[in-house]
Amino acid sequence: MTSFSIANKSYNPPIFNNVSGPVLVTGAAGFIGFHAAKALLDLGFEVIGVDNMNPYYDVQIKNDRTKILEAYSGYTLYREDISHIDGMKAIFEKHPVTSIIHLAAQAGVRYSLTHPFSYLKSNIDGFLTLLECARHQKNFKHMVYASSSSVYGMNTRMPFTEEDPVELPMSLYAATKRANELMAQSYAHLYKIPLTGLRFFTVYGPWGRPDMAAFKFVKAIHEGTPIDVYNHGNMARDYTFVGDTVMGILGALNTPANPDAASSQKTSSQGKHPVFNLGNNRLETLSYFIEVLEKHMGKSAIKNMLPMQPGDVPQTAADITRAQKAFDYAPTTSINDGLRLFVEWYKDYYGVESPKRVYSL
Ligand SMILES: NC(=O)c1ccc[n+]([C@@H]2O[C@H](COP(=O)([O-])OP(=O)(O)OC[C@H]3O[C@@H](n4cnc5c(N)ncnc54)[C@H](O)[C@@H]3O)[C@@H](O)[C@H]2O)c1
Repeated sequence: MTSFSIANKSYNPPIFNNVSGPVLVTGAAGFIGFHAAKALLDLGFEVIGVDNMNPYYDVQIKNDRTKILEAYSGYTLYREDISHIDGMKAIFEKHPVTSIIHLAAQAGVRYSLTHPFSYLKSNIDGFLTLLECARHQKNFKHMVYASSSSVYGMNTRMPFTEEDPVELPMSLYAATKRANELMAQSYAHLYKIPLTGLRFFTVYGPWGRPDMAAFKFVKAIHEGTPIDVYNHGNMARDYTFVGDTVMGILGALNTPANPDAASSQKTSSQGKHPVFNLGNNRLETLSYFIEVLEKHMGKSAIKNMLPMQPGDVPQTAADITRAQKAFDYAPTTSINDGLRLFVEWYKDYYGVESPKRVYSL
């Protein structure tokens, strides 16, 4: 197949000149990893998934995503922790993986205030394991990995561009993502391996994370419980539909950085390995986001207006010019369409208007 679809929305990715053999996807039972793995399987690639199925949020969703992926003959999942170097080495020895999409991480800004050590283990030790495995892998081609818009931290100049200084993280989560970029830069420099950082901006869509706003709000609207609206609804985000994010991931994977050619670039974010904003280029306020969800749920939310939370940023807006130029990244999904697809999935998966059944994309 030359296309993949997410909730009936069809995507036509580029012709893959630079991706071959099995693709390793870490965090494959996670939200974005599941969609990336499924897209690759639909496109005919063999996919090796790695995920430790940790209980940061409802493991049932991870198991249900995995059931869908395991229906493909080309899919193998290892329930492994990426910080276990021996286990990860064994996977790389067994499979001739040359392209890697590294998404496994301890996500979440607020959780990093209460569980700081999870971030060090998964996001720092785990990231180093991937770098080590990649650099020793025969015929290694390219690793793209998840960074985050949170690296822009206290920056106030909008939209965020990749040339901006990123020295002021506002949470440990953001600090680990920025550390990943610096670790990748050092490995690209030392070992001349192609590595690319992708700064995601608030990704949402079907099979989304229960700890994120879209999920929490829809659940609360359905159950008639209050929702916490931080910064009185005046926070603004560059919400990105997961299908558009997956197109960016695949486009980037197919465009390996050249560590030698890139070495003439001077800025800290570009260095010997590139980083790209994968946002949506359209800023929406939290209030509008809730209004659209209310429309699709056919029910009003009970709003608990609150001030800003420690570690949160009031606005994230992406300049996506660099990704547009490098691999034609062009997000197409409006917030109205994307949230409609999310609400349809939620209702179907949880049997909100009909008995629960297994949801398929
Ligand atoms: N969703 C977003 O809006 C967003 C925004 C910015 C960055 N990101 C980054 O994108 C990536 C994917 O995010 P997501 O939303 O799919 O999150 P997710 O939590 O749904 O997926 C991450 C997956 O990684 C797995 N994992 C965590 N630690 C692991 C470990 N030590 N070993 C093996 N597996 C492990 C988890 O079990 C989970 O299934 C993460 O790196 C996240 O930090 C996401």
